[in-house]
Amino acid sequence: MPYSSSSGLITVSYPSKPHLYAPLLFNTTTHEPYLPLPAPHAHIIITPPRDADAAVMATHLNDIEIAQWLSGPPYPYTLTDGENWVHRVARPAVEKALNEMEEGFRRNGVGEIEDELPSDAELVERFISGCVVDSVREVRADGTDVFIGNAGFRHCNTMELCEGATEDDKERLEAENDARPLGDPGILWTYGNYLAPTHHRQGITTVVLRILINHWAVPKMNVRRMLCTAFKGNEGSIRVMQKNGFRFRELRKNATCLRGEWRDLNVMEWEHAESRDGEGM
Ligand SMILES: CC(C)(COP(=O)(O)OP(=O)(O)OC[C@H]1O[C@@H](n2cnc3c(N)ncnc32)[C@H](O)[C@@H]1OP(=O)(O)O)[C@@H](O)C(=O)NCCC(=O)NCCS
Repeated sequence: MPYSSSSGLITVSYPSKPHLYAPLLFNTTTHEPYLPLPAPHAHIIITPPRDADAAVMATHLNDIEIAQWLSGPPYPYTLTDGENWVHRVARPAVEKALNEMEEGFRRNGVGEIEDELPSDAELVERFISGCVVDSVREVRADGTDVFIGNAGFRHCNTMELCEGATEDDKERLEAENDARPLGDPGILWTYGNYLAPTHHRQGITTVVLRILINHWAVPKMNVRRMLCTAFKGNEGSIRVMQKNGFRFRELRKNATCLRGEWRDLNVMEWEHAESRDGEGM
């Protein structure tokens, strides 16, 4: 799977066969895949991470308007933190997902018989471990774009918050969750995101989450259950989740200590509509 170190972009192996990568679209010049948002947010796209994002991330994640609501990233956030994120976390995950997608094409004969592609109906669908796009960008009138945020799914890392579970169950539950096979509908996922304050309250994150759930997480990863958290007072995050079908379960008091301060967590749950009669979390 090509990665261009000169441009810092992740691109695809078969740019001449864009239909294979649906719902992803392609930048015709760079061959970088992307998902567009619909109008009135058509100027927003979601792409794989790029090398140049590290420095912008450092600006975003040192902004207290963002940092006060995030427990994952370090604060202060250095350029090295950003580079580690892009090179060791984000890019490997995206490359893995793209490789899985392309491995599926190869199993279907793509690449071997260049002129005789199987039709879409003949392609055997395989589930993918992650999302190929996670970096939110605003495309400007001159065609350049600016990195404005991040959004992504991963296996749940707060399983002590599952109904009936305690801190003592966390390690075992997370190991069991991680051991489930690709595409297992029982995997419990979580979702994390942030957006640059310059772009808050324009409805962008609501639509980013909707597009990622409907066009990628459900059909490509078989995501059926999510458990997400938001600090008490993070009304924007809670609202974004509610607008995407998450239900508030409880406010867990003093659930986590962030930089010396104990904080309450809203526990939010999501289940795919067809899975709602299934087992509880
Ligand atoms: C949470 C966050 C991603 C929301 O992004 P956004 O693009 O501004 O959200 P949207 O514009 O889609 O807003 C969705 C809804 O939330 C509401 N909302 C957004 N920010 C809000 C705020 N600070 N207070 C109250 N409501 C807010 C909007 O009014 C909208 O509701 P409505 O449609 O009923 O009017 C953004 O505020 C952010 O990056 N915050 C810092 C990082 C963070 O909290 N990440 C999530 C951690 S759990």
